[in-house]
Amino acid sequence: MTDRTSLKTPLRSRAWFDNPSNPDMTALYLERYLNFGLSQDELQSGKPIIGIAQTGSDLSPCNRHHLELAKRVREGIREAGGIAIEFPVHPIQETGKRPTASLDRNLAYLGLVELLYGYPLDGVVLTIGCDKTTPACLMAAATVNIPAIALSVGPMLNGWFRGERTGSGTIVWKAREMMAAGEIDYPGFVKLVASSAPSTGYCNTMGTASTMNSLAEALGMQLPGSAAIPAPYRDRQEISYLTGKRIVDMVHEDLKPTDILTKDAFVNAIRVNSAIGGSTNAPIHLNALARHVGVELSIDDWQTYGEEIPLLVNLQPAGEYLGEDYYHAGGVPAVVNQLMEQGLIAENALTVNGRTIGENCRGAVIEDENVIRTFDNPLKPHAGFRVLKGNLFSSAIMKLSVISPKFRKTYLENPADPMAFEGKAIVFDGPEDYHHRIDDPALQIDERSVLFMRGAGPIGYPGGAEVVNMRAPDYLIKRGITELPCIGDGRQSGTSGSPSILNASPEAAAGGGLALLRTGDRVRIDLGRGTADILISAEELAERRKALEAEGGYHFPAHQTPWQEIQRGIVSQFETGMVLQPAVTYQRLAQG
Ligand code: FES
Ligand code: MG
Repeated sequence: MTDRTSLKTPLRSRAWFDNPSNPDMTALYLERYLNFGLSQDELQSGKPIIGIAQTGSDLSPCNRHHLELAKRVREGIREAGGIAIEFPVHPIQETGKRPTASLDRNLAYLGLVELLYGYPLDGVVLTIGCDKTTPACLMAAATVNIPAIALSVGPMLNGWFRGERTGSGTIVWKAREMMAAGEIDYPGFVKLVASSAPSTGYCNTMGTASTMNSLAEALGMQLPGSAAIPAPYRDRQEISYLTGKRIVDMVHEDLKPTDILTKDAFVNAIRVNSAIGGSTNAPIHLNALARHVGVELSIDDWQTYGEEIPLLVNLQPAGEYLGEDYYHAGGVPAVVNQLMEQGLIAENALTVNGRTIGENCRGAVIEDENVIRTFDNPLKPHAGFRVLKGNLFSSAIMKLSVISPKFRKTYLENPADPMAFEGKAIVFDGPEDYHHRIDDPALQIDERSVLFMRGAGPIGYPGGAEVVNMRAPDYLIKRGITELPCIGDGRQSGTSGSPSILNASPEAAAGGGLALLRTGDRVRIDLGRGTADILISAEELAERRKALEAEGGYHFPAHQTPWQEIQRGIVSQFETGMVLQPAVTYQRLAQG
């Protein structure tokens, strides 16, 4: 145990529990923390008080195993000479929350900022996992800037059905197509989907959860090698204990999020995101985190640093394998080492264990080259995001690694115009409109149509809906055409393998060009040049804008809850992280 006199800075918890200049308040603060068994001696011993920000609950099954893991975290904290105080974080369950879990990322963030700032905590263990829980926790720790370490709950075990791996989320898209094609019925659909979730933990595919947990490690916020450990494995218990031990030392060392979350750390994370085939939600969350910690990061940085990186991790949806395989193959350190050998990692970026990412990952071997490829034998040569711009939006992204050979052949291999295609726009206003009309023959959707989803951004569908990946109408699927280009101002599940153009900013509800689009318009997408445009004259576009403004702008559904209204009034667009704009001005709160 470190002697209190060796602390770099006085513990902030002493202002509550051991403040001789304010005995009345000290007594008041002390008494309720005594009433469940902590002693005055402990609370005034100079031991760091370590929060365990608990994201698990019955409402949030992906993170629920943290209720168990927290016991090992506590043992680690206690052993290293700290005192653990566990408290709940507003639950976020990706698959359970209506209208969308991403509505709650900023709500959980706000709540956690208040807890970390307003209570006697010297450091915190962030229990991360399901999609939005990871960014919410990291963003709050970044704003308050007390020593913080993340602990992933880990992915579920691999799902299996009739001898084949079934990946969470990804199987839903496949099962939906099978049901539309009449290959399975509804009970068969449910059985197939449920097979993908065989244990506690988060999605076993490289969806947003595996992505964000890998990136939390690549950023330096988790112990090396910890992100990929499956939730039920004994190693997960062990890393929980080690995480608890380590946070106490981090408090003694005064190692804070601002020391770790530097521009270098973000660039490392962007590169790792490409190599793992990471989710299209990652730019939203990392751009938000960067803004909260005060690092300049733009949507263009994702293309600049990430586009040329090859796809190394062979996980669904871009590849074949699942979470257990990823762990056995070496997880994040093996991926980082591959990039590091090419000089693509800023090796001096500091991590939570007090060492650099270079020291942590140098020499980390790939244990199974089917699952993690070497840099010179990748699954795909370029796995990053292409950033598109034009009169439809100022930015949108496309994940290059999920473009299928069939899609490439149909849309991108016209020798006269490689990487570009034109088509007829079919426009849907929100997911309900799409569900009602997609199979309507009157729309006359054919293989040269481009499906548009608008009204699905941070304002239009509060939080932004994961709805841009739209299936083709039944009548085309029956003819073997399953994939049409999809474009929209919403998001897409990280578990979807659809090559959609997503996260368009500004969204229709914020006056973006998508609001001016009409079904039947010709649109041109040029992936080579990075452009996306409606093919109409500037005059016609100006006319349409005038008409839209006369109608009071793009209409979106009414607020259903107070939070929806509050967030809609102050939220930024996807390209800047969908942050609460006033919150970005509050930084390093614990430093006063
Ligand atoms: Fe929670 Fe995928 S739904 S991690
Ligand atoms: Mg999702």
